Amino acid sequence: MVRVLGIETSCDETAASVVALAGDGAPQILSNVVLSQIEEHAAFGGVVPEIAARAHVEALDGIVEAALADSGTSLADIDAVAATAGPGLVGGLIVGLMTAKAIAGASGKPLLAVNHLEGHALTARLTDGVAFPYLLLLVSGGHTQILLVRGVGDYRRWATTIDDALGEAFDKTAKMLGLPYPGGPNVEKTAASGDAARFPFPRPMKGSAQPDFSFSGLKTAVRQAAEAVAPLTDQDVADICASFQAAVADALADRVRRALERFRTEFPDAAEPVLVVAGGVAANRAVKATLEGLCRQAGFRFVAPPLKLCTDNAAMIAWAGIERLRAGLPHQDAFGFVPRSRWPLDQVSAPVVGSGRRGAKA
Ligand code: KG4
Ligand code: ZN
Repeated sequence: MVRVLGIETSCDETAASVVALAGDGAPQILSNVVLSQIEEHAAFGGVVPEIAARAHVEALDGIVEAALADSGTSLADIDAVAATAGPGLVGGLIVGLMTAKAIAGASGKPLLAVNHLEGHALTARLTDGVAFPYLLLLVSGGHTQILLVRGVGDYRRWATTIDDALGEAFDKTAKMLGLPYPGGPNVEKTAASGDAARFPFPRPMKGSAQPDFSFSGLKTAVRQAAEAVAPLTDQDVADICASFQAAVADALADRVRRALERFRTEFPDAAEPVLVVAGGVAANRAVKATLEGLCRQAGFRFVAPPLKLCTDNAAMIAWAGIERLRAGLPHQDAFGFVPRSRWPLDQVSAPVVGSGRRGAKA
């Protein structure tokens, strides 16, 4: 039995969790405590890095204690401490990693510096036991990528956004329409009573030979539509949200279909190819339904981990720690590791021009 304490502080959630892996290979989430800072940031319409870092400092001790208590373990039962060391807002990363260094150092436990994106990437193995290789669509506030997950620490980026991340596009759309932060869930809720056919928004990159994503043109189209119709009634806002969401789903489907085809070509012998979706936007039902339909058509198994594990949490960090330990890949010098605000999972593929420059986790 291996038990790892995970700590996550890369954006606006302070989280700690204990995950165990029994000898027979069945993982178990013993505790998963997440404190959202939504209230601290709501007045500003987005995450304020300095406020986030201070809120992590105030909350983290108590959150770690709660995660240990909930799990029915004490520090003495923990085999290693894993903390998000990047990418993300550097103030929060420092708080989490320094706390993990202190806990691990004082208790003589190994320390693992975990890439937040690796946490998202490996969650489907914790929840659904998905085997390598598989395709991952990562759609969060800072990232929009399709990754080939070949093994622990072994990723290839097949597509990324050349401008905004998808979660960011949702958040900015919400802001333009006067909907409260966080934008994504509010756009989805508002879209439910809207007419998705009213505004023919563009489907950026649809049909393009380049495999990447783009959302800034769509954002501009939303702004222009809102300005043209202003002053906006509640129905106008709902119609824009519904039309925006339809454009997003359609653009996403086109990009993901390409990746599924490439996977088939590169792994013709895969008996049951898998597409995993992760990140906060995976909560969106229209997005999920579109991906489910695509996978059904293409003969892929579609895996969407439960919402609590799709959005930021520390169970995925503890699990990534366990995966790294099991693969014999602990970070050799985690105590000397300096938090990285940018830390691509795929160290091989060249960055796409214009990408990764915006968003909290760019
Ligand atoms: O993965 P996550 O919790 O944090 C990051 O790593 O960024 O993702 C947060 C993002 C935000 O942009 C939020 O607006 C978006 O996920 N999001 C949604 C929904 N729920 C969260 N976007 C669309 N529809 C939703 N239901
Ligand atoms: Zn995340």
